[in-house]
Amino acid sequence: MEPDDQDVGNQAGDAQAVDAQAGEVTEGSDSDTRPEPVPEPMPDPVPASNLGGTPISRGRALPRVLAVANQKGGVGKTTTAVNLGACLAELGYRTLVIDLDPQGNASTGLGLDISQVQATMYDVLLHDVPLEDVVEGSSVRNLFVAPANLHLAGAEIELVPAFSREHRLRLAIEPVLADYDFVLIDCPPSLGLLTVNAFTAATEVMVPVQCEFYALEGLRQLSTNVELVRKSLNQSLEISALVLVMYDARTNLAEQVAAEVRSHFGDRVCRTVIPRTVRLSEAPSFGQPIISFDSSSRGALAYRDLAKEVSGGTPERTR
Ligand SMILES: Nc1ncnc2c1ncn2[C@@H]1O[C@H](COP(=O)(O)OP(=O)(O)O)[C@@H](O)[C@H]1O
Ligand SMILES: [Mg+2]
Repeated sequence: MEPDDQDVGNQAGDAQAVDAQAGEVTEGSDSDTRPEPVPEPMPDPVPASNLGGTPISRGRALPRVLAVANQKGGVGKTTTAVNLGACLAELGYRTLVIDLDPQGNASTGLGLDISQVQATMYDVLLHDVPLEDVVEGSSVRNLFVAPANLHLAGAEIELVPAFSREHRLRLAIEPVLADYDFVLIDCPPSLGLLTVNAFTAATEVMVPVQCEFYALEGLRQLSTNVELVRKSLNQSLEISALVLVMYDARTNLAEQVAAEVRSHFGDRVCRTVIPRTVRLSEAPSFGQPIISFDSSSRGALAYRDLAKEVSGGTPERTR
């Protein structure tokens, strides 16, 4: 049921680029006096300089626009966008979750019937429908959702020839930004034009990292793309937070992966860790965020902690 469409082709391309770089370093260095070659250390998955800005825990001005992104499917993007959004709303922040995945999981997870919604993010991005016209309420006070459904699958192609195709989402958000404290964009599992739109509209990228063996692999490519967008489309973009999700404290592997991610990314990694719990996976089929579905569950407590950490206690704006 879950999408598992990782961008394998591009990952292979990335590996080649790394090899090419390694080749460049050694090329032409044929001096006899050079020291014994030592094996190259494994390259860091992400150079620290690629992250930009400051970690999430520092006080930040509202409104904030965060793209929840990871090109791997099934790593917890939607679960994080929905539940972090709900917990920020519970803290009193007016929060908009923008569903940018044709699967529409964030929309259904917040109780919408996406076969019935009149207008969606597809209409916003392709037909200049104002974002405020597609925004729906939710069962949580202060929490709103801009829905998506399968129509959005066409956007990836239809946007290609469109005018200012990378800026569509940014331009759509601008007029409503004053209405919200937080905008969370639930990205699709690819690094295509929809995600580029999210990166162009956001100032922060939040990356859910599943505590499994290959967790670090995709992060290099993700950070390269963030870097590209920062250089060409959106100077203020930064990877402000990595969130360890689906953490299973019973396995050594989860602990090892968590330690490795922290050693690479330091204070970019949120202190709050989201445990793997069945309740979190059950809640979406009831169209509820975890705080409505099972308010005292471990998942609910964890996402509440994450919301406190991410907001840093910044007072919500008065309007
Ligand atoms: N912490 C968790 N514990 C248990 N199941 C989880 C957790 N986070 C996500 N899931 C489940 O894993 C699957 C993938 O999560 P999802 O958030 O949809 O990932 P993505 O949006 O990255 O594709 C879903 O079935 C979801 O309910
Ligand atoms: Mg998703």
